[in-house]
Amino acid sequence: MNDKIIFSGIQPSGRLNIGNYIGALSQWPKMQAENNCIFCVVDYHAITVKQDPEELRRRLLEITKTYLAAGIDPEKSIIFRQSDISAHTELAWILNCAGARIADLNKMTQFKDKAGKNQESVSVGLYDYPVLMAADILLYGTEIVPVGEDQKQHVELARDIAKRFNNDYGEVFEIPQAIVKTEGARIMSLLDPMKKMSKSDDNQNNCIALLDDIEEARKKIMRAVTDSEDSIYFDVAEKPALSNLLTIYAQLGNREIKRLEKDYKGKGYGEFKKDLADVVVKFLEDFQAKYNSISDEEALKVLERGKEKAEAIANKKLKEVKELIGIK
Ligand code: TYM
Repeated sequence: MNDKIIFSGIQPSGRLNIGNYIGALSQWPKMQAENNCIFCVVDYHAITVKQDPEELRRRLLEITKTYLAAGIDPEKSIIFRQSDISAHTELAWILNCAGARIADLNKMTQFKDKAGKNQESVSVGLYDYPVLMAADILLYGTEIVPVGEDQKQHVELARDIAKRFNNDYGEVFEIPQAIVKTEGARIMSLLDPMKKMSKSDDNQNNCIALLDDIEEARKKIMRAVTDSEDSIYFDVAEKPALSNLLTIYAQLGNREIKRLEKDYKGKGYGEFKKDLADVVVKFLEDFQAKYNSISDEEALKVLERGKEKAEAIANKKLKEVKELIGIK
């Protein structure tokens, strides 16, 4: 893949975990040499549920530094903050009116998961969130959106919205496509393998955060649930917890799952988990060393420069859209 326009983003709604890294972030640096990459910290998405204002400001920098520590190079890619560019919310409104349909939003599984039984009392923003995400993507002529599996449906909605708008008003939007890894696109909770590892989980024992204390992370792996069989092979249906741990091992340790199955044949879960904990700890140590070498000032400068570059692209697209619908 080369010369493509690539866009992705992460919400500053909690501490980033190895699920976010494996499913999304780890794909991004590999793409930046040959493509035009744009990576956003989506703070307007984060406020779809109540956030502490100070925390939100702090997390903005935390995520920006995480992007840099993961290997995104601001000389090659654009890194910016969503709320710095008003074209995102403006286009979201336009798409709410021209392109998005209630029937489409009603199908979004993430909304159903997040709202649970409280569908009537959550914010309208939480329901409308995929339309803002479509605006993020469509403003930049995005062709490829590298995300974890849980965001695939939202990218498909962005495609549908773009097609409908193009059809009704004229060809203005590129039709984007999600890229989801074949392995690691959905990392599960350490204590409940039926549940996604999530940065907004109240029980942080379910996740390993990228900035977790090293010894705490080791303990979390040792406490992770497995099953009663004590034999190590990959089978998501029969052995979801162990298959999740094998995936984490393979992804963070750069090993193939098949190879791990061979290496651990006849060995027990205790030994496997101890080795996995070593792999996770090594990964976290390397990551945190890079993270700690980046200052807040540096991160702020990156966002400032990113804003300038992204805004020019976004405003141009918004102007075209407004002309088509008769606003200006
Ligand atoms: P967010 O902030 O929930 O997650 C960021 C990225 O991490 C992926 N991810 C996972 N991958 C594997 N296993 C997991 N357990 C796991 N949990 C999360 C997500 O799929 C995502 O790629 N709506 C988006 C942010 C967004 C966006 C965009 C993304 C806003 N605008 C435009 C792409 C393009 C979100 O809430 O991701």
